[in-house]
This record gives sequence, structure tokens and C-alpha cells, in this order.
Amino acid sequence: MKIAVAGTGYVGLSLSVLLAQHHCVYAVDILPDKVEKINQGISPIRDAEIEQFLKEKRLDLHATLNPEIAYSDADFIIVATPTNYDVDSKKFDTSSVETAIHTIRKYNKQGTIVIKSTIPIGFTRRMRHELPDKNLFFSPEFLREGHALYDNLYPGRIIIGARLEDESLLEKAKIFASLLQEGAVKQNIPVLFMHSTEAEAVKLFSNTYLAMRAAYFNELDNFAETRGLNTDEIIRGVCLDSRICDFYNNPSFGYGGYCLPKDTKQLLAEYADTPQSLISAIVESNDIRKKFITDQILSKNPKCVGIYRLTMKSGSDNYRESSTLYVMRNIAASGTKVIIFEPTWNKPDYEGFEIVNDFESFKNRSDIIAANRITGELSDVKEKIYSRDIFRRD
Ligand SMILES: NC(=O)c1ccc[n+]([C@@H]2O[C@H](COP(=O)([O-])OP(=O)(O)OC[C@H]3O[C@@H](n4cnc5c(N)ncnc54)[C@H](O)[C@@H]3O)[C@@H](O)[C@H]2O)c1
Repeated sequence: MKIAVAGTGYVGLSLSVLLAQHHCVYAVDILPDKVEKINQGISPIRDAEIEQFLKEKRLDLHATLNPEIAYSDADFIIVATPTNYDVDSKKFDTSSVETAIHTIRKYNKQGTIVIKSTIPIGFTRRMRHELPDKNLFFSPEFLREGHALYDNLYPGRIIIGARLEDESLLEKAKIFASLLQEGAVKQNIPVLFMHSTEAEAVKLFSNTYLAMRAAYFNELDNFAETRGLNTDEIIRGVCLDSRICDFYNNPSFGYGGYCLPKDTKQLLAEYADTPQSLISAIVESNDIRKKFITDQILSKNPKCVGIYRLTMKSGSDNYRESSTLYVMRNIAASGTKVIIFEPTWNKPDYEGFEIVNDFESFKNRSDIIAANRITGELSDVKEKIYSRDIFRRD
């Protein structure tokens, strides 16, 4: 079977590698650097399993800048291009997905298109009418950055949204689900078939739930910190309830990363005239958290704040929508000096803030070290650290 994938980011590359174990996969991108790296067996993103598979496994994987070579004759074409949040329209910018779909149909009229990008609710149905073309599915992607391939090798569920009334389309949806299962290590993966609009809603409601949970424990921590209470004890006590569970409960500088902030805002936009208060509170709570963290740091009157890593998680190498960035900008806006330790950034400054990657110098110059996540290398400057990383496990 020939499969093409538009976009070689976290989603596109992890799926390309997964599927290239058993099928011929053409991965398309618009960035020559990424294409070149993949063809050399080097992962353009930091992800242990992707790096290992590209180096060690026999994969039938071809990265290319040429959409015609990739898309023509492909049986399935996956779209995994960005859907950034547009601050002006307060919605996703879906233009890259639309461009990819039109390009695919220019070279391939028959192949089944599966959108993996996170899109507005109703987008796939609208595209089907616009084109017109029934052969267009949406399959939500649930991977975590840094564990992208792992999460496709061990997926919690596979969901395919299609026009189920049509027998032949249901058959294709089943084939696509079987391709994802075939590449996975995990057995007995729950598979759900539903209409594409419901599948789109699953994605946005899942991420908004995760954002809500993060915001909840962050607000618990706001409360504990202002009252001088032990957050650790409170969260452990709360989470021993089997209905609440002891996971995804470690306070942070705010939920962040590429997806949670934008997906939550998109769901809020979807509500429009439907009554709600929780969804807007989830968005607002994160802003309150970032301001709270900033105020806590500034209340200690530091002359120079050292920002320890711009990444959201230890082990990550991207800073997209990292809550630390917002805290850093807020601190700087108050007139306080900011310096950054970020070894994955090899330029002298980030947004005009000085990068100090000589770790000894960074530690000496910082009055306070703001660390969203703490690692062992900070052990000799414990008294300088400001962090809410209570459990130090993610
Ligand atoms: N990152 C995640 O954890 C995650 C998880 C689930 C879903 N998603 C969703 O998946 C989508 C992609 O996310 P990502 O993190 O992989 O994005 P990314 O920004 O890491 O990668 C997207 C890639 O698509 C390429 N691209 C842009 N336009 C293109 C085009 N017309 N043809 C071919 N390639 C093109 C870009 O150059 C880039 O390499 C988004 O909608 C995102 O919301 C992301």
C-alpha cells in the first residue's frame, strides 16, 4: 500500500515512521531542511523512539518536497499540517490544511484523505461539501510531544470519523484503523468509528479536559501557596480518591505547549451562543496562574531572575506556548532583569533576553532561578529556586 503524509511535525513524522514499518510512505514537507534530515535518518524533532526507529529500523520511508511524487497513486493521504490559533479571528487558522487538501486532490482524485490535524468542529463536513468529496475522514491524534511515536505504538484509542452511512467509506475507515493497529505494539486497542463532527469534538473536549485538570491543580496550588499550606499533602490526599486518581496533577507555571492553549480557546469559540462558564474559566484560569507565578517571583524583589529552561517539560526541545515564556515576559515588563539558561538555544539572545548557557555563571548571576520543572543539576542552588514542581516526575 502507498501512503502519503502532508507535514513532518510531531504528528506527521510519528505516523510516517509507524506506517513505514509495513508500507511505502512518502512524507511531504515545505521545509527542505526537515526533508533532508529525515532522508539521512536523522529526526528533525527530539523524540527518543523516532530517533531510534529512523536510525535502526528498516523503514520504507521517503521524505520529499515534491507533492506530485508523494500524493499521486497513494491509497491514503494523511494531513498533519499546523492549525495555529489566530488571535484576530479567535479561531484556528486552517489554511495549511485546506491548501494540503487541494494540493492532494490536484494529483490524486481517488485516495482517501485522513485529516489528523486538530480542526474546528464541522470542518471535515464543510470540506466534503465544498470540494465536493465524500472520501475525507478525520481521525483525532492524541500523542504527546516528546513521546509522539511511543504514543502511536501504544495508543489509548483509535478514532475514525467518516460518513458511516456509506458502506464503502466505512470499509475504508476500517482499513485505515487496521493500518494504525498493524504499526502499533499494543494489542487490543479500542477502536471507535463515528461521524467526523463527533470525532472533531472528541479531540477538542479531550484536550480541554486535560487543560481543566491542569488548571484545577494549579488553582489548588495558588490557594495553598497564599495560605502557607503544603500543596503536596493536599494533592496526595485529594488524589487517593479513585474517582480523581493520582496522575496529571503536578502544579506548573500554567498549562502550555502547542495544543492545550489553542484547542481550549478554539472550543470556547465553538460555544458561541451555547451557555457555558467552565470553558471560559479554563482559559482565564491559565492567565491568572501565570500572573500569580510572576507576582510570587517579583514579591521576593530579585534584581535578576534566571529562567531555567524555556521548554515545558524536561527532555523537550521546543518552547511553543511554554508558560515560562509568559512568566518571563511579565517579569521583564516590571523592569526586572531576566537571563535565560536554555542549552537547546544556541543564539546569544531569545526575544532580546540574554542567553547564559555557562551554567555556573547563570547560577551566580541569578538572584532567583525560576524553574517550571526542576532537575538534579539545580541541586546546589536550592535556596535560589522558585518552582511549583511538587512531584518532580514529568
Ligand atoms: N504536537 C502535538 O502534540 C499534537 C498532538 C495532536 C494533534 N496535533 C495537531 O496536529 C497538527 C500538526 O501538529 P504538529 O505538532 O505535528 O505540527 P508541526 O508544526 O510540528 O509540524 C507541521 C509540519 O507541517 C509542515 N507543513 C505546513 N504546511 C504544509 C503543506 N502545505 N504541505 C506539507 N507540509 C506542510 C510544516 O513545515 C511542519 O513541518 C496540528 O493541527 C496540531 O494541533 C498536534
